[in-house]
Amino acid sequence: MSSTYAEIYKSWKSEPEKFWEEAAAGIDWFSRWESVFDPNLDVYGRWFSGATCNTCYNCVDRHADGGRTDQPAIIYDSPITGNQRTITYSQLKTEVQALAAAMRERGVNKGDRVIIYMPMIPEAAIAMLACARLGAIHSVVFGGFAARELATRIDDCQPKLVISASCGIEPGRVIAYKPLLDEAIELASSKPNATIILQREQNTCDLIDGRDFDYEAVVDPHRKSGTKIECVEVASTDPLYILYTSGTTGQPKGVVRDNGGHMVALKWSMKAIYDIDPGEVYWAASDVGWVVGHSYIVYAPLLHGSTTILFEGKPIGTPDAGTFWRVISEHNVVSLFTAPTAFRAIKKEDPNGEFIKKYDLSKFRTLFLAGERADPDTIHWAEEKLGVPVYDHWWQTETGWTIAGNPVGLGALPVKYGSPTVAMPGYDIQVVDDEGHQVQAGTLGNVVVKLPLPPSCLPTLWNAEKRFHEAYLEEFPGYYKTSDAGIIDEDGYLFIMARTDDIINVAGHRLSTGGMEEVIASHPDVAECAVIGVADKLKGQKPVGFMIINSGVSKDESEIEKEVVALVREKIGPVAAFKTAIQVPRLPKTRSGKILRATMQKIADGMEWKMPATIDDPAILDEITEAMKSRGMV
Ligand code: COA
Ligand code: AMP
Repeated sequence: MSSTYAEIYKSWKSEPEKFWEEAAAGIDWFSRWESVFDPNLDVYGRWFSGATCNTCYNCVDRHADGGRTDQPAIIYDSPITGNQRTITYSQLKTEVQALAAAMRERGVNKGDRVIIYMPMIPEAAIAMLACARLGAIHSVVFGGFAARELATRIDDCQPKLVISASCGIEPGRVIAYKPLLDEAIELASSKPNATIILQREQNTCDLIDGRDFDYEAVVDPHRKSGTKIECVEVASTDPLYILYTSGTTGQPKGVVRDNGGHMVALKWSMKAIYDIDPGEVYWAASDVGWVVGHSYIVYAPLLHGSTTILFEGKPIGTPDAGTFWRVISEHNVVSLFTAPTAFRAIKKEDPNGEFIKKYDLSKFRTLFLAGERADPDTIHWAEEKLGVPVYDHWWQTETGWTIAGNPVGLGALPVKYGSPTVAMPGYDIQVVDDEGHQVQAGTLGNVVVKLPLPPSCLPTLWNAEKRFHEAYLEEFPGYYKTSDAGIIDEDGYLFIMARTDDIINVAGHRLSTGGMEEVIASHPDVAECAVIGVADKLKGQKPVGFMIINSGVSKDESEIEKEVVALVREKIGPVAAFKTAIQVPRLPKTRSGKILRATMQKIADGMEWKMPATIDDPAILDEITEAMKSRGMV
């Protein structure tokens, strides 16, 4: 099939409102919009203003009450616990209503915030949908974050209720969530009124009388009596959720997602980008704590009437590197979306793809990769061993869906390895120099998107409009700054090369080195520090800290390192994957005192580097190189 992409992109560009109005026909609305796009509303305009809708209705009720009553909506497959469970659309409707009823009994109403701190179990998705049903705003927090990170999010969004589980399960260990939640509530100055806790048999927990409620005890009576909770009518522009993501400081940014625009963009993407039909089985192997999990484990497949896989496991070790192929063949998955790091892990464990040969993958059509740069080696390996096309696509928590990708449903474009392909309708992507002038094709620069952003993209940051301006809109007026550096070639293909800020990408997880530096600097023996992301074969990048120890400290170097590593794990969480802190006598700086992190990173990665003209003392870079050598890094 030849691609209609160019034509469709052109039609969007010439009449953007017509394009999105047509896409909006894929959604059931309570009342229609006054304008498809109102440029005068809020920061840069709003989509479908005046319309009312409900996201849960579109994800659940219209399928449960339509032709998909007995079709599986969610297939939970948990190799880590040995459990499986299929939930049809009609069962999902019952479950969501029962939880929504229990939430309403605890005072949750339209506009209230609810934090969801849960592992990869169906109740996490049910909780998200129950919030959407009530018009409440959820904020899902990834299980690998520590209590302090959870507390920061509680204080920022001030939830009325927290929904959690007694534990999460990682290979070889059970993580008790309740002590983390208790500590977070203790640390936070804003206290939720109540919690609802799902007890898991692997590790049950004590509940505090009057504050904590057992999930089954409060939900089951409603399940049994079939309590009906209506889908609350919300404005298209009302927030559906807040998802915190790493910024340049320890204070995460609360990305706000609306209801209407989000549904329109996600529904459109399922066919146009992923080439999925309603009724087919689609699998995003991510976590509901990340944006990929929000958009492509929960909302998009359900909006589309597909079946989604909720997988509680890892690409390797649960029990082996064949687990992905088992899931695909057992549940007839047609399309998998995951991070390249998962494939690097599988490739390392099973380089010849022996496990792949054991399963019937005849229904499997396409592999999509995102979350970090897809290295050509990984793509080649996956293409060769799986015998299906592999497509990279680039997006951010801020957008909620693809900025640049290969729209398979419109007819796939030729792949250029290392490129996520081209701008999706809705995005006018440009590459500009530091003064904001567009650069020539093939030249590296700042990747920006001309305003307005398309439906689903963040209208602002939660309670932080000034930060929204500063972080995204100020540097290049009229454009959204992606903070990625890249190239557009003469064919319009985009190549994403690196972040322009201090965000690093570890195993597809977005982390702030600034946030880690804040924690390390709080250690009483540390005078100063810098954290950089060093290239890693498996995880893409890994954080490495360099620290100057206060004079007069007599502790052993390795003891301080252990303490610092433990401190980052305690304050940020295991997900930071922070394992190396190297003591150095000095840090390289410019004459104005800025630490030369980019140069340090180039040295660590064995890349070519130039002595910065503004460096204060060039000898320090030799010291740093020696310190890296002593740890086998270069
Ligand atoms: N709850 C608690 N701890 C968690 C966690 C969770 N939900 N997720 C990860 N962790 C812990 C891990 O157990 C690990 O702890 P450790 O230091 O004790 O070993 C630590 O956080 C780092 O995790 P991670 O970086 O994920 O490494 P890993 O060694 O556990 O697994 C991969 C490596 C590549 C297999 C794994 O990262 C992976 O599957 N990545 C896919 C990434 C992804 O889906 N990204 C979403 C964007 S699409
Ligand atoms: P997150 O908000 O966690 O999705 O992380 C977004 C960041 O991850 C982007 O700004 C990029 O730096 C990086 N990223 C995501 N997808 C890709 C991709 N396909 N290619 C290169 N970088 C990517």
